[in-house]
Amino acid sequence: MKIATINGIDIAYRDEGAGQPILFIHAFPVHSAIWDHQIAAFSPHHRVIAPDLRGLGASARGSGATSLDQHADDMAALLDHLAIENATVAGLSMGGYISFALWRRHRERVAALILADTRAGADSEEGRQGREKNARLAEEQGPSAIADQMLPKLLSPNAPAALRDQVRAIIESNDRAGIAAALRAMAARPDSTPLLATIDVPTLVIVGAEDALTPPSEAEAMFNAIPGCRLAEIPGAGHLSNVEAPEAFNAEVTEFLTPRQAFGVGGGGGGKW
Ligand code: MLT
Repeated sequence: MKIATINGIDIAYRDEGAGQPILFIHAFPVHSAIWDHQIAAFSPHHRVIAPDLRGLGASARGSGATSLDQHADDMAALLDHLAIENATVAGLSMGGYISFALWRRHRERVAALILADTRAGADSEEGRQGREKNARLAEEQGPSAIADQMLPKLLSPNAPAALRDQVRAIIESNDRAGIAAALRAMAARPDSTPLLATIDVPTLVIVGAEDALTPPSEAEAMFNAIPGCRLAEIPGAGHLSNVEAPEAFNAEVTEFLTPRQAFGVGGGGGGKW
């Protein structure tokens, strides 16, 4: 991992390959290791950037609370640091929430968007209370208690035990205070539904067919609201669809990234490429 001082703290990131950049923004409660298959697949033809969000993985947490806007500002500042004007932004779940914040605050940095296993809506009041309860659980009992709770929701029931163990190890390598900060940041996020109609860059919405956390109905709602976007469903995959079915996920991303010569691609309102 490389380290850069971004907005006053050390942010760790992978930076591999050369070509049109792709910024991969990871989910909760994991870190950039979930993108290993994508880094291997795309770095031969793209410059692939995969940071650990502040407070998670090898990145510092900073002091006090954080917010998804802060994460989005970190992503923009990391692109500045790397002299990247704009990138395809691929955000999975919490990474998708941060992609919306990036679109809201720094849209000139977003050349294209991949919204994976995420949703546009904010938390309900009940959801916010659940997040606070889990933030306290993380602070009191540490990441393994969060892993116990999240693992059944992150992968499909058919996921192999070895994959479950790998994801557990990633969660358990995270810092308890960083996990709690991420939960509170997600709880405070605004509703991004009104943003969807403003998205005017090529967009792929992608979802695991077995995603129990952000189910295909959420993906369909985004697909229907974003002009000219594509929708892909990954059969058999759960919430971390890029980890559980990397080949199918990568094939959809490859097709999306391949420029089209004429006539739109399928999707709500016709394609843009
Ligand atoms: C994630 O996968 O990033 C989170 O589980 C999303 C969430 O809890 O809303």
